[in-house]
Amino acid sequence: MKKITIAIDGYSACGKSTTARAVAKRLGYVYGDSGAMYRTVTYYLLQQGVSLTDTAEVSRALGDVGITFKKDAQGNPLTYLNGRLVEEEIRSMQVSEHVSAVAAIPVVRRAMVKLQHQLGEHKGIVMDGRDIGTVVFPEAELKIFMTARPEIRAQRRLKELAAKGINASLEKVLANLEERDRKDTTRADSPLKKAADAIELDNSFLTFAEQVDKIVKLAEAKINA
Ligand code: DC
Repeated sequence: MKKITIAIDGYSACGKSTTARAVAKRLGYVYGDSGAMYRTVTYYLLQQGVSLTDTAEVSRALGDVGITFKKDAQGNPLTYLNGRLVEEEIRSMQVSEHVSAVAAIPVVRRAMVKLQHQLGEHKGIVMDGRDIGTVVFPEAELKIFMTARPEIRAQRRLKELAAKGINASLEKVLANLEERDRKDTTRADSPLKKAADAIELDNSFLTFAEQVDKIVKLAEAKINA
């Protein structure tokens, strides 16, 4: 059967990754979490005490970052940094606070896009991020631009953090989301924007199952076209 590439872009905490993962499962496709890559680099730089504004040092450090993914028992990808599982560490508030600054550095983006191309070279992939439909896979057959109201996104993210035992206030989470959206949409290199041929999906008032169904139907139409 024909395989396609599905790009899901959008603002922070719109539920892109959970949706992309579910769509990939339904179609038997690979799920690519591009945000996890930027988070892993950020985690490494913070751990090593690298100044995020020192491009030469960031560039050097980047050579020591090996990012790989392995599937857990449910088939979900787990992120490894130089062979060490870092799935939990990369989702911390500290990483969330610095990741947009790191993701704005062109040398970091070039390295991550290379990795993303490798993951998607055989198609049959659902990748989520900020520039997947515009820069990484501009030829993707299906592009979705996901949005949701900021308060709804903050509440969802807070729930996710609480489920992991991480305490944060709604104000702090909302402020972090809005700040990341601002940085992600205004950076010079590959800013977050809706691709001209992307389909916008506001999921503020959709159930999870409804939005997954919508995307799977759109994908099947492309696959069978
Ligand atoms: O999807 P996420 O929240 O895990 O992404 C973390 C950050 O990484 C996000 O604030 C911006 C950056 N990012 C990016 O610049 N480009 C991507 N394709 C994916 C993420």
